Amino acid sequence: MARLAAVAVWSCLLLLPVVKGTELDGCEADGCEADVSSALQLGRGRDEDDPEPAEDPHPEQEPEYDPELDAEECEHVCCYSRFKAPESLCGCLAAQSISCNYCSRPYIATPEEYQVPHAGSFNISIPVEETTLANISKFEVGLGLAGFRVGTLGVTLLGPASQSLGLKEPEMEPESQTSQVHWIFTDRSCSDCMEPTDSFSQLQGEDAKGTWTLIIETDPEVANGLVTWVELSITSC
Ligand SMILES: *[C@@H]1O[C@H](CO)[C@@H](O)[C@H](O)[C@H]1NC(C)=O
Ligand SMILES: *[C@@H]1O[C@H](CO)[C@@H](O)[C@H](O)[C@H]1NC(C)=O
Repeated sequence: MARLAAVAVWSCLLLLPVVKGTELDGCEADGCEADVSSALQLGRGRDEDDPEPAEDPHPEQEPEYDPELDAEECEHVCCYSRFKAPESLCGCLAAQSISCNYCSRPYIATPEEYQVPHAGSFNISIPVEETTLANISKFEVGLGLAGFRVGTLGVTLLGPASQSLGLKEPEMEPESQTSQVHWIFTDRSCSDCMEPTDSFSQLQGEDAKGTWTLIIETDPEVANGLVTWVELSITSC
């Protein structure tokens, strides 16, 4: 009971800065207010006859807290997020019989880790472990760069079945400028989008599972910049 009340107080405290002048109003809906007063009473009781200190010896430590995601949150976080959700959290998929629908919204794959050398060409590998992407219908690649001579870059994508698609050809302009770019390589037409040199239509019907590799070819004479963003967006019907 004391532990539950402490968790409730903690979650109310989180709300406080948000609700400002109205104090605990934000908590009422959750029944937090009642829990706050019972927690305060428990605290007072302890002063007199409980040898346990009322103060948490590690106040900066968050209490163990297992949020229960509702169906919509579960699907959003565990199916379509750019950040890999912890498996412990995504038990909600099985518990609530949710199956991710990558036909309605794309699966987003991001690289695990990669290193950009000071100069010279490099590869970024992007594992796709999801097994339900057996029939690619739409495919996009997002790539953010800062400080590269973007004109002279060549970008190629290798698929898990050794498919090779050119995304961008290097331009032979020696005075190409460095700049910050957010490219979306896609077959659909949109502003800020780049049409890949080789159409993604050749990936249609293929299985996305496996390792994808983005090959970035640079001018070896010029220092590399930063890769700020890499993602594959995969729709499968
Ligand atoms: C990138 O990957 C390709 C294909 O696997 C390989 O031939 C090439 O040597 C790699 N390049 C680098 C810089 O690792
Ligand atoms: C793959 O998806 C397309 C539609 O995007 C569909 O027409 C085709 O039948 C599907 N193929 C298989 C093997 O499910």
